[in-house]
Amino acid sequence: MDLTTRYLGLSLKSPLVAGASPLTGEVDNIRRLEDLGAGAVVLPSIFEEQIERDEQLIEHMGTIGVDSYPEALTYFPAAASYRIGPAHYLDVLHHAAAATDIPIVGSLNGITDHGWVNYAGQMEQAGAAALELNIYFIPADPDVPGHEVEQRYITILKAIKQAVKIPVAVKLSPYFSAMGHMATQLVEAGADGLVLFNRFYEPDIDLGQLTLLPNLELSTAAEIRLPLLWIGVMSGRVRASLAASTGVQSADEVIKYLLVGADVVMTSSALLRHGVDYMKVLLDGLKTWLAARDLDTLDRIRGRLSQRNITDPTAFARANYIRVLQGYQPDR
Ligand SMILES: Cc1cc2nc3c(=O)[nH]c(=O)nc-3n(C[C@H](O)[C@H](O)[C@H](O)COP(=O)(O)O)c2cc1C
Repeated sequence: MDLTTRYLGLSLKSPLVAGASPLTGEVDNIRRLEDLGAGAVVLPSIFEEQIERDEQLIEHMGTIGVDSYPEALTYFPAAASYRIGPAHYLDVLHHAAAATDIPIVGSLNGITDHGWVNYAGQMEQAGAAALELNIYFIPADPDVPGHEVEQRYITILKAIKQAVKIPVAVKLSPYFSAMGHMATQLVEAGADGLVLFNRFYEPDIDLGQLTLLPNLELSTAAEIRLPLLWIGVMSGRVRASLAASTGVQSADEVIKYLLVGADVVMTSSALLRHGVDYMKVLLDGLKTWLAARDLDTLDRIRGRLSQRNITDPTAFARANYIRVLQGYQPDR
């Protein structure tokens, strides 16, 4: 069975990609994921704050001398508050790229176009086959209008594109008033792919302690519906690869994402929940489903249920909601 897939102009042996998470920050896991059939691996993000902190530290030490090193260390936030530092990140990237034949995607997480964007070039040199740009920006300031938020994405993307020659995908949040137009703008600004969607951290409340809970919930299969909708709507409409991210718990979600037009399907929560070996379960499930239908390539299913390819495109739109409500029967 031929599962080869094109993503960001790269040839992948399968459409299943290990998405960014702490699991993909370990070379052993990356090699195992390759053995199990992953088409590519996205490293966890390196954050703008980490890169800037390191640069400031070096600058600070240059100004005041090595004697002040301990003082400098207390001045800046503890390195342990981040997962891995910029130098170690490049090391992992380099080793992962050297130890595997699959594309290793570096991930950058930032919200400005300041000097940190040059780190993208170092990732390229370290062996990244592509970059994923995660603009984790929560526009909490009520005075900031939507067009400024959109412009921020475009400006950062352009700065990163200028720093590298390898393809760049943008990992988007679903919170744009005109998602389709935003996607088009990003593609015009140079995005080679779009990852739908980023999953913002959302706080919970501890009702006993009356405090905000800083915990991170893994996703559930019910969460595929929003990215499923937007991939289905955008498939064939934007000149960029589309990656699905959020909610994959079994091969069913992988197949659904491919049916609406995803080029690749990423998974993080399922691997964190079940371990990296779960990559094989997902892949075997996809192969079994295809074999049961005598399908030997993904072209036969990819995008078959996208909005452009179905006979009733309103199935993705408001009209369908009205129809569903008209036929809705409450349980009791
Ligand atoms: C523990 C954890 C760490 C994550 N770290 C990153 C990260 O560093 N960079 C990033 O872009 N996404 C990160 N993500 C988000 C995932 O890559 C993914 O987009 C999201 O979890 C939705 O996919 P899933 O439903 O398969 O988990 C993280 C997710 C989890 C659960």
